[in-house]
Amino acid sequence: MARRTVRIAMNGVTGRMGYRQHLVRSLLALREQGGLDLGGGDVLWPEPVLVGRRADALREIAARHGLAETSTDLDAVLADDSVEVYFDAQATAARPEALKRAVAAGKHLYTEKPTALDLAGALDLARLADRAGVRHGVVQDKIFLPGLRKLKRLVDGGFFGRVLSVRGEFGYWVFEGDWQQAQRPSWNYRAGDGGGITADMLPHWEYVLHELFGRVTAVTARTATHVPRRIDERGRPYDATADDAVYGIFELRGGAVAQINSSWAVRVHREELLELQVDGTHGSAVAGLHGCRIQHRATTPKPVWNPDLPTGDRFREQWQEVPDNEEFGNAFMVQWEAFLRHVVLGTPYRWDLLAGARGVQLAELGLLSSAEGRRVEVPELVL
Ligand SMILES: NC(=O)c1ccc[n+]([C@@H]2O[C@H](COP(=O)([O-])OP(=O)(O)OC[C@H]3O[C@@H](n4cnc5c(N)ncnc54)[C@H](O)[C@@H]3O)[C@@H](O)[C@H]2O)c1
Repeated sequence: MARRTVRIAMNGVTGRMGYRQHLVRSLLALREQGGLDLGGGDVLWPEPVLVGRRADALREIAARHGLAETSTDLDAVLADDSVEVYFDAQATAARPEALKRAVAAGKHLYTEKPTALDLAGALDLARLADRAGVRHGVVQDKIFLPGLRKLKRLVDGGFFGRVLSVRGEFGYWVFEGDWQQAQRPSWNYRAGDGGGITADMLPHWEYVLHELFGRVTAVTARTATHVPRRIDERGRPYDATADDAVYGIFELRGGAVAQINSSWAVRVHREELLELQVDGTHGSAVAGLHGCRIQHRATTPKPVWNPDLPTGDRFREQWQEVPDNEEFGNAFMVQWEAFLRHVVLGTPYRWDLLAGARGVQLAELGLLSSAEGRRVEVPELVL
């Protein structure tokens, strides 16, 4: 048995995603289980090097988790040949520049989405990385969630027949920051800092729809800034210059139509924060992050419209839960495992910077659609 170490520069670990999902729930969780099993008795041991702007915060995280290395000097870390992978979970606006420096230093790249602030920047990164011959991956965590993996199982098993439509609800109330602290960072509400729910969520809907049902070929979107003034982390009021809701219609190759509402200004009356309903000729499903319920054509009741009588039907009880049938694991960790295998074993990996660019493209065209009040075709991207 051989143990190989992979040193990973992690930038943005003081943030919500970088710390909780990528450091604690992914790389540290992998170490807790003895490293990543590469097969043949070999094990990969991830060694995070924490990079950021605040030395104290980095040292505090390192001490909490028994890690040795922190640095506020990204260039010095990138100049270290023993560091093989650069990971980025910074606030979006800081990302493209850092990724470019990492490519120039010959590092393999793994990054949160969106990969850049616009499509030109995202394509530029994908080209640079390809030309440099480094391996690259973009976080597309939603398809690794248990609920969506059950949905994929249904698609692969032919459960739906012909898929007709997808309707999605995503969102929750993000507090304004006055009488209760906001649970999202203030840069999310500033366009100049890469904020906005369209830039945040349409990249997710792009790969979810693409992987499950087919590429998005056209988008019609309407964005809104429902809460125009908020209070930041230091208690100062600021104007929200970015959208906090986007109502989108996505046409899919194959003919299905998806309609997804995304909002940080909506109160939850759902089973989960994300729900996707899929209706097909042979059956329907409603998937959340964890659960997935189905109704087959053979068990579909026949409601009759009669507004004169209160309905006695318990519609939600007419659905059947899809069983787990396997252990799913944390979605972020599952994708990290696939990416690290790709880096050290060369196994195939399709969630790369070109896939990331498709997400940035859909967000950009969604914003264009809303600004111009029209349907916008989504051309297929090539490098
Ligand atoms: N995959 C997902 O489901 C998911 C969910 C939320 C956020 N994200 C993405 O992850 C990234 C980080 O989001 P987050 O919610 O963790 O943000 P956050 O504000 O909690 O963390 C941002 C991190 O970037 C650092 N940073 C570096 N330069 C910065 C700058 N100029 N301004 C502000 N912070 C800066 C901060 O110190 C911090 O470590 C974003 O790109 C976001 O789009 C992905």
